[in-house]
Amino acid sequence: MTRKIHPAVVSAQPFQVANLRPTDRLFEDEEGRDRLEKAISRYPDKRAALLPMLAYAQERNGWVSPESMQQVAEALDLTPAYVNSVATFYTMYNKHPTGRHMIQVCTCVACHLCGGEEVFEAFLEATGTVPGAMSEDGKYVVMEAECLGACGFATAVQVNDRYFENVTPETVGEVLARLEQDGGE
Ligand code: FES
Repeated sequence: MTRKIHPAVVSAQPFQVANLRPTDRLFEDEEGRDRLEKAISRYPDKRAALLPMLAYAQERNGWVSPESMQQVAEALDLTPAYVNSVATFYTMYNKHPTGRHMIQVCTCVACHLCGGEEVFEAFLEATGTVPGAMSEDGKYVVMEAECLGACGFATAVQVNDRYFENVTPETVGEVLARLEQDGGE
């Protein structure tokens, strides 16, 4: 039996890429320092770089962990409590590991009418997961999503930064096969 969660509590993560580095520390290499410097340079006050740096943490690690919040806090001279309060306010930041492929199935009106719920259930079954929980192999997290802006192509499914349209329960296997083929390992 699957546990239902409301779509509003899950996040969108359009920039997430498949080659996450979940254990990386954020600002100990040139890439991280460069991202930090560039973000800070855009604002008169460096605390304003908080949202971009949380986004960077998610881009690099796949989620915003307590450790990455701590690193962002130190980098921006903020308290960890403040960073945590901002990160938990926005649903766009994942507070749990998302797996290599974060599969978001739209079950909003148009997709709902075209079988979005059935597609959602088919993904859960095919990946052996429950909503919002990572598969044992770390590959998949399946979530419901609010409208993905592809209502004319229901059911719409977003996997990391990629869209699949007109998905049906019968084509869920094809979508998963494409993910494996294109970098799922
Ligand atoms: S209702 Fe599904 S993309 Fe808009």
